[in-house]
Amino acid sequence: MLSSEIQTVQIQDFDFVPFISETEIHKRISEMAAEISKACEGEEILCLVMLKGAFVFAADLIRALDIPAEVSFIRYGSYIGEHSSGELQRYMPVEPGLMKNRHVLLIEDIVDTGLTLSKVLPELEEEQPKSLRVATLLHKPEVTEYDLDLDFIGFEIENKFVVGYGLDFDNKGRDLKAVYQMAGGE
Ligand code: IMP
Repeated sequence: MLSSEIQTVQIQDFDFVPFISETEIHKRISEMAAEISKACEGEEILCLVMLKGAFVFAADLIRALDIPAEVSFIRYGSYIGEHSSGELQRYMPVEPGLMKNRHVLLIEDIVDTGLTLSKVLPELEEEQPKSLRVATLLHKPEVTEYDLDLDFIGFEIENKFVVGYGLDFDNKGRDLKAVYQMAGGE
């Protein structure tokens, strides 16, 4: 059950406190869109949105780009509750042939341990894109265990669980307009 009291949000038995405001998110997304548009100038990119968490970020980022972009979706998962299960589930892989010889921008909500991208990126490379770049709204560098090339990062954050702006806790909290951080522990 999701309820909010003043600015704190409660999901199940956990309290989440405001962490990154709507204004800060939108300001940073405008900057990221400018960086991406410059880096990909002259290219027609294919934005590959990682469901479910990245759908809100991707919708705002893609509309802020100054370059033409096609959009498609993939869905993988490794999280149960607030912890990574360690196992990668392939719910919705990329459409066969879609990425071949294209400039692809993978749009992620958050890179935590890096497990998901460490498995997904090599699979996407097998689709033979002309280039494959990654844009993530959030990154927890302290806990990332894999050597990943993250081209565009919105915010580097500490190792605490966050929800909102597309990110969930057991599928709740995606609809919050800002990012909230779990109060107390990790
Ligand atoms: P990784 O494989 O550990 O890098 O985790 C990547 C995925 O786990 C993200 O795409 C999210 O779906 C989920 N995830 C990791 N940390 C958080 C968090 O703090 N809040 C919500 N989801 C998270």
